[in-house]
Amino acid sequence: MSLLLEQLVLTQSQLFLKDVIEGLRLDQKELSSKYFYDAEGDLLFQQIMASEDYYLTRCEEDIFRNKTSELTLAITNRGTLFDLIELGAGDGSKTLFLLKELIDQGEDFDFFPIDISKNILEILGQNLQESLPELSFHLTEGDYFEALREIVTASHKRKVVLFLGSNIGNMSPGESLEFCRHLSDLLSPGDLVIMGFDLRKNPATILRAYSDREGITSKFNLNLLRRINRELGGDFNLSQFEHYQSYDPISGACKSYLVSLSDQKVTIGDQIILFKENEPIYMEVSQKFSPEEIDALAVNSGFSVIANWYDSKKWFVDAIWEVQ
Ligand code: AVI
Repeated sequence: MSLLLEQLVLTQSQLFLKDVIEGLRLDQKELSSKYFYDAEGDLLFQQIMASEDYYLTRCEEDIFRNKTSELTLAITNRGTLFDLIELGAGDGSKTLFLLKELIDQGEDFDFFPIDISKNILEILGQNLQESLPELSFHLTEGDYFEALREIVTASHKRKVVLFLGSNIGNMSPGESLEFCRHLSDLLSPGDLVIMGFDLRKNPATILRAYSDREGITSKFNLNLLRRINRELGGDFNLSQFEHYQSYDPISGACKSYLVSLSDQKVTIGDQIILFKENEPIYMEVSQKFSPEEIDALAVNSGFSVIANWYDSKKWFVDAIWEVQ
């Protein structure tokens, strides 16, 4: 069965169960970080973004706050009408700077935030209504590409797609190339993409962002086990798993694991999963990039680079690319 058909046939919760069991039956156990974001996970991620050690959000906010006119000009200087689409919109805190500037300049556009979390979209909807009552927006829950395909089919206006926060880093290098190729295939020549990348930097700074001193990232990872217990009838004992983070400055991969603290047996529905003491579950990659790697990603996936905007520390970059 094709992946698309399978996704149509299975309900969200059946798909979640299937992914969890398949991942935990691998020789090297893994869980997908896309399942981090239930209501509790959304809350924990908001706490991570506000925490002292997690610099990414502040760096990108610095760009959106201080380079707003450059960003706006790059979007509007073509002089034609456009739709603004955001993949993985979250609570929209950085995008608000851009939206406000576009509205102040009298631009006539629609905003389409897409996210897999219904809960965070509701929060975003309230934020937008309160701060920008004149904005025309359409909240869309679900798969990025399905939603994007619908928007592209429904309107023939030029498209500007935002993919911020280094969400691209939560894919392996092979997956991010495939993702960007898919994006350029779905869009038309002249359409724009603005993508946020966390840059390679002092390894200790990166490691600390994901091994934060407040322990929020640990809770964020463990919350997925709690979600499995709640939604899939699992019996993970959270005190028997410990968060472990690594950063490899050669490959730029910052990876998180949950390590089993004992030999143990976990039941999920009617499935039994055995863990050995010190056995890891691979949870997430947060890939870090060099400027050269980012340019190569653009060119290899059908885009040309228009500009790069850096924060004041040069820790983060928002790149603007045009579909060829
Ligand atoms: C959403 N994403 C870009 C975050 C990151 O930095 O990889 C998720 C995250 N995981 C742990 N801390 C934050």
